[in-house]
Amino acid sequence: MVQNSDRLISGDIREEDRDIEPTLRPKFLEEYIGQEKIKANLSVFIEAARERKEALDHVLLSGPPGLGKTTLAQVIANELNVQIRLTSGPAIERPGDLAAILTNLQAGEVLFIDEIHRLNRSVEEILYPAMEDFCLDIIIGKGPSAKSLRLGLPPFTLIGATTRTGLLTSPLRDRFGVLAHLDFYDPGELRQIVLRAAGILGVRIDEEGADEIACRSRGTPRVANRLLKRVRDFAQVKGDGSIDRDTAAMALSMLEVDSVGLDNIDRKILRLIVEKFEGGPVGLETLAAAIGEEPETICEVYEPFLIQLGFIKRTARGRVATSGALAHLGLVSKDVCQQRQEAFSFGGQAKG
Ligand code: ADE
Repeated sequence: MVQNSDRLISGDIREEDRDIEPTLRPKFLEEYIGQEKIKANLSVFIEAARERKEALDHVLLSGPPGLGKTTLAQVIANELNVQIRLTSGPAIERPGDLAAILTNLQAGEVLFIDEIHRLNRSVEEILYPAMEDFCLDIIIGKGPSAKSLRLGLPPFTLIGATTRTGLLTSPLRDRFGVLAHLDFYDPGELRQIVLRAAGILGVRIDEEGADEIACRSRGTPRVANRLLKRVRDFAQVKGDGSIDRDTAAMALSMLEVDSVGLDNIDRKILRLIVEKFEGGPVGLETLAAAIGEEPETICEVYEPFLIQLGFIKRTARGRVATSGALAHLGLVSKDVCQQRQEAFSFGGQAKG
């Protein structure tokens, strides 16, 4: 079974991303491309908090992996000119771990908890009074003689990030003052991100080369930056080191990432629905068995982008392949440009 993080076009972080991401990360809102509405609101809240010399309200960032939630948290801390402590839900195993982190914060600092939906319940309960009243309730002793002690904390900003808002408990969600859902980027924004990254990495690329990478990056900056790195290798070995549309298209075809960013597994799923199940409807369980994956994996990993592109529809009777999918597989003719335009017309309405 293929792990999603093994896929070249996965939004999940891969080992190869860890060396370039820190260099490519924008440091301030001004350099952060896309997510315009979120940036506009955040800049107001940040300025207001700075003027009042108060901690910024707690912020919840949600959205699919690879869209820049961690980057945005770091940008917020930089804009506030404060330190950020980075941790994640699964890393905080016991209430004592969180208590140690909270008591070490300085006034105004940012605590970033990635995958906050994966916090365990006993840890989450420590977080409620910490977020609401900046205090820590500690129980000393056990049984009837146990005593509760309230410890004050410096005011701080919690930034939580989640790919699964639906899994957050409502008491936790309700304690965030700012809720921001990151959407997939449109190809124009991704092109700018690719051009910026190429500038930092010292890669020669023209607008069309950047556009070709952008169109195949599934609305996801992490994927765009990863593909840029791979295309750079092809350009260096097979060409003169610079990237234009042809070099990018050739390299990405060799890597089996097609014109709208689908890989072999995506195409296999589409072909199965179309050829084996006559276009559907096919039940999730049946589809999963035919592909050899768990139904949840199909639902959470493979389907979202195919639905985003309008290639698959979820209906009451099962999954259906659309005419867009048929055209993409070359089973009915359609102008490639038109197909791409339609495929990318999702910008702004995508929900993770
Ligand atoms: N690199 C990754 N995400 C980015 C963004 N939103 N803006 C600029 N560079 C980025």
